[in-house]
Amino acid sequence: MRSNSIFLLLITLAGHITLSGCDATVEGIPYLDGQRVSAGQLVYNNNCASCHGAALEGQPNWQTRTSTGYLPAPPHDETGHTWHHPNQMLFDITKYGPQRFAGAEYKSTMPAYEGKLTDEEIWNVLAFIKSQWPEEIQKKHSKAFPQN
Ligand code: HEC
Repeated sequence: MRSNSIFLLLITLAGHITLSGCDATVEGIPYLDGQRVSAGQLVYNNNCASCHGAALEGQPNWQTRTSTGYLPAPPHDETGHTWHHPNQMLFDITKYGPQRFAGAEYKSTMPAYEGKLTDEEIWNVLAFIKSQWPEEIQKKHSKAFPQN
């Protein structure tokens, strides 16, 4: 009986580790998987292009806050700094909004996609974004952030 409950506890713990492992450490951004990239392109066009640009070019003067205190949307191409960030951080900004890193009071128009996009769709859209970078930048990013 006693060893049974220890066994159950271990199973439960293992389940948690696997589950949180799923969310926290994916194998990186699946940008070489054509299917996920094209699924991600659809997600991008429907959810992100309006701000980040159809060609990932961002909005003009994206580094300067407007008079209302908001930053314009940055580019996701190689001219921006998306590729300077670890995979998990890009995922978390998309899922929870920049407030996750900048604090709850931080003013931003970047929406949180929790409840609107699944985790898989978020990895897919990041795969599409990474697939658009020049190969040299893709390699730099993969080298800097081999996992997350
Ligand atoms: C309503 C406009 C808007 C939409 C729609 C939008 N974003 Fe953003 N996004 C922003 C702004 C503005 C920022 C800059 C954050 C800030 O305010 O400091 C940003 C920042 C980001 C960043 C951080 C980039 C960096 O270099 O730090 C990521 C990643 C990102 N967005 C992903 C996405 C994805 C993926 C989508 C679609 C699923 C999306 N965004 C849709 C406005 C938008």
